[in-house]
Amino acid sequence: MREARLGISPSALHHNLRRVREAAPYARVLAMVKADGYGHGARLVAETLAEADGFGVAYLDEALALRAAGIRQPITVLEGVFTDMEMFEAVRQGLALVIHQEPQLALLEGCRLTGPVDVWLKVDTGMHRLGFSPEAAISAYRRLRAARITGNIGLMTHFATADEFGSALTETQIGRFRGLQQVLSKGGDLPLADSLANSAAILAWPAAHGNWVRPGIMLYGGSPFADRTAEELGLRPVMTLSSRLIAIRELRAGESVGYGAAWTAERDTRIGVIAIGYGDGYPRHARSGTPVLVNGRLVPLAGRVSMDMITVDLGNAPAAIGDTCVLWGEGLPADLVAAHAGTISYELFCKVTARVRRDVW
Ligand SMILES: Cc1ncc(COP(=O)(O)O)c(C=O)c1O
Repeated sequence: MREARLGISPSALHHNLRRVREAAPYARVLAMVKADGYGHGARLVAETLAEADGFGVAYLDEALALRAAGIRQPITVLEGVFTDMEMFEAVRQGLALVIHQEPQLALLEGCRLTGPVDVWLKVDTGMHRLGFSPEAAISAYRRLRAARITGNIGLMTHFATADEFGSALTETQIGRFRGLQQVLSKGGDLPLADSLANSAAILAWPAAHGNWVRPGIMLYGGSPFADRTAEELGLRPVMTLSSRLIAIRELRAGESVGYGAAWTAERDTRIGVIAIGYGDGYPRHARSGTPVLVNGRLVPLAGRVSMDMITVDLGNAPAAIGDTCVLWGEGLPADLVAAHAGTISYELFCKVTARVRRDVW
């Protein structure tokens, strides 16, 4: 009866990639498959989205795993490499590297392999996480160009607030990036491939599309915006987390349920026990009232999430032991559940644990 299942829909993935191409018709698509494809399975996503122009991962091991699985498209390592050994492996496997700081530049210059290795020079235009300042990027670019091993060079930045409508910081970031491109072009250094846009910028900042976009969450059917649903954006959920009812209990008004007796029935009711918990990746901080889809009907979570079980207030909803319950996905947006748990769909997707059975629909 323990049937926590993660269903993955390849057709929804294809659909969402088409939405990316509709929104940014002139850009190539670097599909983000870091963190095991946002929890969907990086290999499965990369094999399914064979029509993507490339894939993005956070670190070298993620890229090597994809190469070992036979993925031949361009793969970009967003955090770059940190040692000679890693540089060697990256070059050998034909990976593209982000260069975001001086030591990585020095590693590249010192590498004795012939390459070529394609690189993205990361510019910090205002996110202040990774990247060279626009001023430092000019000399970094010249050094990259002079390095024997360098293949194609692209210019990349990342937005801090692209999900905020009319954000002044995003305007500033775009301005700094375009300014740097102009400076480089005056030195005769264009055209350079450029890449700025995550999902939010793909959908809301056409001026930032450039020639490579980097969609993550929208590929998986999550909304990058707090105030617009994935459905409104024409996206379909790729992941559906489901399980089953394993018990139904009668509760009297005034009786409480679960750890901490954190929820008390205001009327006589029926409590459904569902075989899913934080041990499966259901968020422990989901509040009472978080929607759960039981037999196609939304009912509220009642009481604290346990490791292996949650409890819902069934009221008069028709329900029987063995009934299917959807925690998020088809019929219940992950973004809605995430909002009740004080998090974002990205985190829900990434945190589904290994004990949940995975099926491709
Ligand atoms: C550098 C970079 N580009 C693109 C993305 C994709 O962002 P999103 O999932 O919001 O589309 C990420 C994700 O964090 C990222 O770190």
